Order: sequence, then C-alpha cells, then structure tokens
Amino acid sequence: MIIEPRMRGFICLTSHPKGCEQNVKNQIAYIKSKGTINGPKRVLVIGASTGFGLASRITSAFGSNASTIGVFFEKPPSEGKTASPGWYNSAAFENEAKQAGLYAKSINGDAFSNEVKEQTLAMIKEDLGQIDLVIYSLASPVRMHPTTGVLHRSTLKPIGGTFTNKTVDFHTGKVSDVSIEPANEEDIANTVTVMGGEDWAMWMKALKDGGLLADGAQTVAYSYIGPSLTEAVYRKGTIGSAKDHLEATAFEITDALKSINGKAYVSVNKALVTQASSAIPVIPLYISLLYKIMKEEGIHEGCIEQIQRLYADRLFSGEALPLDDKGRIRIDDWEMREDVQAKIATLWEEASTETLVALGDLAGYKQDFLNLFGFGFEGVDYLADANEMVQVPSIQ
Ligand code: NAD
Ligand code: NA
Repeated sequence: MIIEPRMRGFICLTSHPKGCEQNVKNQIAYIKSKGTINGPKRVLVIGASTGFGLASRITSAFGSNASTIGVFFEKPPSEGKTASPGWYNSAAFENEAKQAGLYAKSINGDAFSNEVKEQTLAMIKEDLGQIDLVIYSLASPVRMHPTTGVLHRSTLKPIGGTFTNKTVDFHTGKVSDVSIEPANEEDIANTVTVMGGEDWAMWMKALKDGGLLADGAQTVAYSYIGPSLTEAVYRKGTIGSAKDHLEATAFEITDALKSINGKAYVSVNKALVTQASSAIPVIPLYISLLYKIMKEEGIHEGCIEQIQRLYADRLFSGEALPLDDKGRIRIDDWEMREDVQAKIATLWEEASTETLVALGDLAGYKQDFLNLFGFGFEGVDYLADANEMVQVPSIQ
C-alpha cells in the first residue's frame, strides 16, 4: 500500500509511518547536535505524541538522558486505515529511545480520566519511583469531566462582540474576511474547563498525594499570547480565558507543592503550525507572515528548537530563571520582538490572495502542515510499500 495525504480542511485523514519516524529522527538529531542539557532524569509528559509535547519528550530523553513516560490520545492503525501521526511518532520515539538504552513507556488514553491518571501513577511507582519534571502539553477540543461525567467542548470565539478580520485557506492560498460570532457565558466556561488549569492541578495533586514527586520537582504547562492582530480571537477570546486560568493555576500548584519544594511554571511559546493552531481562524494568515519574517531574520524556530531553548537557556541553564511581570517564562521573545511585529502589521494590511504568495510563507506553512502527518520529508521513499513500515511498539 502506498500512503498519500488525504486532506479534509484542517485535518489529514492519513499519516505516513516512515515520515513520522523521519520527523522524530530529525528532532533527535537536532537535540544531539546541541549538546547535553543538565536536565531532570525522570520526566512525565502529558500530551507527548505531537507538537510541543513530543519535542519536550525528545529534548528530555536525548538532551538529558531522561527516562520518560508519555501520555497521549492517539489512534492505532486499523484495517485499511493508518494510525494517527502521534501514534507513529510515539512508536518511533520508543524504538529510538530503546536503541539508545533509555527507558521509555507510553500510555494511550484519555488524560482527563481518573483511569489514565491511576494507570500512570502505577507505572511511575513500579518503574521510576518518582518524577522530577512534569510537562503538561494537552491540546484538546473536548474534556469529559471525571467527577461530573459531563462532556465539555471548547470553542474558539471572541468575547463581547463579533470579530471580523482576514484569514487564509492555506490549501488554496485564498485570503478572505472571516467573521466570528461572540461567545456566550457557557462557551467561555466550557473552554476554561477543557483548556484551563483544572486538569493540570488534578494531575499534580494525584502525583503529590501518591508520593510520586521528587523533592524540588517542577512542572511546566504551555501557553500563548500573540500580537494585537489575533487578540480578539485568541488571547481575549474563549481560549485566552482558558490560558488566563491555566496561568493562574501555576501559582496554586506551586503553593500546593511547597512541602516538597516543587514549582509550577507556564512557558509562553511561539506560534507554530500544529493540528491545534491550524483550526483557529486568522492564525494561519498570521503564521504565514510570521514565518516569512522570522526566516528572513534567521530567527525561525519549530517546536524542537523552541523546547531546546526553553530547557537549555531557561529551565536548566543553571542560572536564575527569567520571568515576565506575570511570572511566566517567555520563549516567544523572538516572535514578539518589536521589529518583527511591526513588519507583520504592515504586511497584514497588504495581504490578499494575489499578494500573499510573495508576502507570506505559504509554502512553509503547507510544508509544516504536511510534516505533521509524516509527509514531505526528505529521505523517505513515499512510493515504497508502507505495509512493512508499521512498527509494533509497546504502547499500552
Ligand atoms: P498538539 O495537538 O500537537 O498536541 C496535543 C497533545 O495532546 C497530543 O499529544 C495529543 O495526543 C494529546 N491529547 C489531546 N487530547 C488528549 C486527551 N484527552 N488525553 C491524552 N492526551 C491528549 O498541540 P500543541 O500545539 O503542541 O499544543 C500543546 C500546548 O501548547 C497547548 O497548551 C497549546 O495551547 C500550547 N501552545 C501551542 C502553540 C501553537 O502555536 N501550536 C503556541 C503556544 C502554546
Ligand atoms: Na503537544
């Protein structure tokens, strides 16, 4: 069977096992090329299979020789269907980690559930004893609340009024206006329940109560701010309310971890093409302009470069951790540079279907989007029979 990309809007229905493996190998090679990081040795990554979470797992394992447990929610391959990319990524990661003599186990299930938390706690107790670092990198549109059984859905809506701005269909390059109706109170509450900090706090409480956090353990969750251009739909919209809640939760977790000298941080990361960000209107146009400028300036980064810098220059540099006035780590510093944002603001006014090809980096956007699903990698023979490529990992 030859596997080709089958795009449906913001998702791709297929993914390529060999390409996902190549993606993981490239990220590992990057981390190795940057040298050793004096980071923690026992790391739990929640949301470990794609995007920033996968990059965090790779950076821990191949930058600091850490044992890693990864939690994620992915589809294994089934009759006539490929697995979801995060499943192939994780299979490839486990193979590479084992070849390098590193402990790596994964749990595939709903991280919001009590069952998956219990399963993870049992695995830590059995295999690692305690955890030094917990990375919380979930991005999900839904959450079944473990105590009420209610299924909450997050939305990507502005608050207070309709928001109209430009966006791009990155498949066709067509730039058009999009209007998004404002959220109601229920939308806001639901989004906070799904993407806010409650589940993060639940994980940390369960780990602490189980005696599974080492003295001085740290936990980091990821957030985003972005420019005024996207503020209405992002930072001041429903998802922004959830990020406010996540950021406030960091302080509560730090308080709750006092007895073990633990600390919780939020790291504000750069805008990148991931499955989560492609679905937010206006953001793809912003990202295509951002990529263009950052590449021109020689400061473009992907998930792996961002997390390598987060670990090496911030969290585990051996120096005092710089925080902003709200106590957050800022690894979006290059994206938010004044000169970068000023250039984007100008390009934004000029961007149209006709001009975007030259003004923006649509090709880079498309390339990154294909890469998410294991397509478009150099060194992969996409015409070869993919049936023999599906690894059998120890994912539980
Ligand atoms: P992603 O979609 O690539 O990764 C999400 C991860 O969560 C995957 O491993 C997935 O399997 C896992 N997951 C989703 N639902 C789950 C569930 N119910 N149980 C277990 N695992 C589940 O997303 P990403 O872009 O890497 O986002 C990770 C975090 O980084 C989010 O908090 C996001 O807001 C933040 N962030 C993203 C960007 C960006 O531009 N992409 C920028 C800054 C911050
Ligand atoms: Na992730």
